[in-house]
Amino acid sequence: MLIAGNWKMFKGPAETLAFFDAFDAPEGVDVVVCPPFVSLEAAVGEEWPVYAQNVHWAADGAFTGETSAAMLVELGVQGSLVGHSERRLFFGETDDTVQRRAEAALASGLKVIACVGETEAEREAGEMEAVLRRQVAVLPRHACLVIAYEPVWAIGTGKTATPEMAEEAHGLIKSLHDTRVLYGGSVKPENAADLLSQPSIDGALVGGASLDAASFSSLCRIAASLS
Ligand code: 13P
Repeated sequence: MLIAGNWKMFKGPAETLAFFDAFDAPEGVDVVVCPPFVSLEAAVGEEWPVYAQNVHWAADGAFTGETSAAMLVELGVQGSLVGHSERRLFFGETDDTVQRRAEAALASGLKVIACVGETEAEREAGEMEAVLRRQVAVLPRHACLVIAYEPVWAIGTGKTATPEMAEEAHGLIKSLHDTRVLYGGSVKPENAADLLSQPSIDGALVGGASLDAASFSSLCRIAASLS
């Protein structure tokens, strides 16, 4: 079981260190934390694997605001998210750039959590399967790539997919790509056991509930108890 915390644009270096002072996860669960770029250096000094939230495909170059895989490796970062729906929605991320970012990261020795998921409009239009097929098709087949299924309508909304809905989507993704699949979208200690006990759910990508050390510790304990 893998529990990854995506802090999004929360926690500078001081808050990052304060989080780790209070965070405590048991044996038996893989834990990853994805802080903002400015807090990566503080986080890699701690005992948990640290991933970036994004990575560029070029080794270096005139790409203002971007960071290469080699730079992350130099810092001690172990992996990166790619294709989060917020990047697709607000920053022009496409399936093509998701593919390029994932391939470059893996080639540099980073692990990757690649995010896929349909919007509410796509689900209502009956397009969930087509969207997931399209998004998964571009992802490299690689032992160090994990997929996170994050239905966009469940992110930060408090609306969680039911365990059955998540299981159905995970089953489809696993039929397309032989990898671990994490669920993301309003995961919290109260709903984690129902979701994580589904056979095709291999962990969680957690936003809001990963910001609080006590609730993230509690999620990790729940995952460990189900492993
Ligand atoms: P929430 O857990 O806040 O819904 O965020 C999910 C997410 O986007 C994780 O990447």
